[in-house]
Amino acid sequence: MGRTTKINILKILKAENIVSGEEIAKSLGISRTAVWKHIQDLKKKGYKIETTPKGYNLINNQDLLNEEELSELSYKVYYYKDVTSTMDVAKDIAEKGEEAIIIAETQIKGKGRLDRSWYSPKGGIWMSLVIKPFLTLKGAYLLTYVAALATALAIEKVSGIKVYLKWPNDVIYKKNNEEKKLAGILLEIKAEIDQINYAIIGIGINVNNKISILEPQAISLKEILGKEIKRKNIIIEFIKIFKELLKSESKEVLELWKNKSLTLGRKVKILHPQGEKIGLALDISDDGALILKTEADEILKIYSGDCIHLRSLF
Ligand code: BTN
Repeated sequence: MGRTTKINILKILKAENIVSGEEIAKSLGISRTAVWKHIQDLKKKGYKIETTPKGYNLINNQDLLNEEELSELSYKVYYYKDVTSTMDVAKDIAEKGEEAIIIAETQIKGKGRLDRSWYSPKGGIWMSLVIKPFLTLKGAYLLTYVAALATALAIEKVSGIKVYLKWPNDVIYKKNNEEKKLAGILLEIKAEIDQINYAIIGIGINVNNKISILEPQAISLKEILGKEIKRKNIIIEFIKIFKELLKSESKEVLELWKNKSLTLGRKVKILHPQGEKIGLALDISDDGALILKTEADEILKIYSGDCIHLRSLF
């Protein structure tokens, strides 16, 4: 109950310049003391609310992410200041059979693909989405394409910049012909032979955070735009697009992905446990593999691995 009241108080504070405790109390049918208590709670959550002689004034220029700010999403939101990794928290939630979004301001042990670590300081979007999709294990590949595409489209919509995709799931910004990584996706799945129990989609987007000096190939939206951007808007847009794409035919998703791809048509080096392969990235197969034509003219289907774009074109 308290949460709904807080959301309503925030709505009123955002709509008005200054509003008295009495007005809020009247319109919500609660006491002035209750309003005061909620205002104190909101301040503890990081909202800047000034108390003026005429009433409360919300300074609405902050970049807050919490259950209240994201209440319009159709998923339950779990928000943390810091966690080891949102993937760990997501796993516990998924095991309980829930669908949810887990967001953290910082991660102490952020995970990247292929057992790498993911630097997750304040200011970025570090979130995991737990879903129970109606997909077979064979169809699960689609989730990374959907998630990467939704991330790219959400970034474009909110920031106005153009971004691209690198196989399998990096969101890339091109700066003077250099390719810089803006976001990455990590997919974890629990499945039976014929059905996915749950999928955890980890999304990391460099928004207003600092980039580690150890990652010269990474970039943040703040660095590109020269100003901070509200992370909430990207998350809301991402969920909207993600849900739409999930309803689309797989062919359609792959077509959209291919249109944004920097990998297809390029000479690439694929690193995977079986070794290194160099070749021309030809296409994405209907079952989600990268089709590679090697220098020995072999045609290979690559389902996972790391991809490096090589400079020289064929
Ligand atoms: C990659 O290697 O490109 C994937 C990076 C995924 C990072 C995100 S941040 C939120 C979620 N929690 C993690 O520990 N990792 C993912």
